[in-house]
Amino acid sequence: MTSSLEAPAKEPLSSSKATIVLEGVARRYPARRRRDEPVAALEGVDLEVREREVLALVGPSGCGKSTLLEVVAGLQDADEGVVSALGAADAQGRRRVCAYMPQRDLLLPWRDALGNAALALECRGVPRAQACRRAAPLFERFGLARFERARPAELSGGMRQRVAFLRTLLAGRPVLLLDEPFAALDAITRAEMQEWLAGALADEPRTAVIVTHDVREALILADRVAVLSARPGRVVAELDVPEARPRRRREVAADPVFAALEQRAMEALGC
Ligand SMILES: Nc1ncnc2c1ncn2[C@@H]1O[C@H](COP(=O)(O)OP(=O)(O)OP(=O)(O)O)[C@@H](O)[C@H]1O
Ligand SMILES: [Mg+2]
Repeated sequence: MTSSLEAPAKEPLSSSKATIVLEGVARRYPARRRRDEPVAALEGVDLEVREREVLALVGPSGCGKSTLLEVVAGLQDADEGVVSALGAADAQGRRRVCAYMPQRDLLLPWRDALGNAALALECRGVPRAQACRRAAPLFERFGLARFERARPAELSGGMRQRVAFLRTLLAGRPVLLLDEPFAALDAITRAEMQEWLAGALADEPRTAVIVTHDVREALILADRVAVLSARPGRVVAELDVPEARPRRRREVAADPVFAALEQRAMEALGC
């Protein structure tokens, strides 16, 4: 078991090198019926994410955030433009370097928490018993000690999210794509989980794209915030977040620098 959550070998990339590149990306879903128009989810998206940078993606509901993440993850192909992740421009290559956490936790209800976390290793060809042995020591660090044998229905929402995140990390990919990781949680658990994730990303630095509706959450977690327009989504603003990570929610709430950034993000969102 590696203590660094199965972290892949450190790539010899300079800190300025882009890990994820999107240039002129468009994605249109075909119409369901002949008389309907296709749905243009993304149009002319240009975006770069640097190595070990955490980028938050905010935008109105239905503007194509999940679509963008699925395109980067190699689960969909763009209809136009170039998408690459760690130099892999084809969908199969992108799937090899990206770990994707979908909008819902999607834990398998018949597997216990340990079995769900270990699934990522099993998908990499590790036999189940060995995968469980390797995943088990991480439960303590993720605040899940003594819940290894609990099924998802026996866990709280925050715990399920932590299992899903642990599984995503255990996939051992250098790029993390998290789609609204806390959307289903109540406000208190959500605030706790935001700080927890900020700490986890500081301890285990990865290139990450985090989709959220919540500008404050973006400012707690990210080095940079990209704002998407309403559908078809395109990047209308990119805001650098100046302070070092990890950040505490309370500090972000009290600091006028963050208040000004929040204001700019809200203006870009048209709020
Ligand atoms: N598989 C699909 N087939 C057809 N249309 C789709 C599909 N997935 C998404 N869409 C459409 O593409 C648009 C963008 O959807 P997407 O899920 O990417 O938005 P989103 O920004 O993630 O929204 P939300 O914030 O509500 O999660 C929507 O109009 C949606 O109906
Ligand atoms: Mg979505």
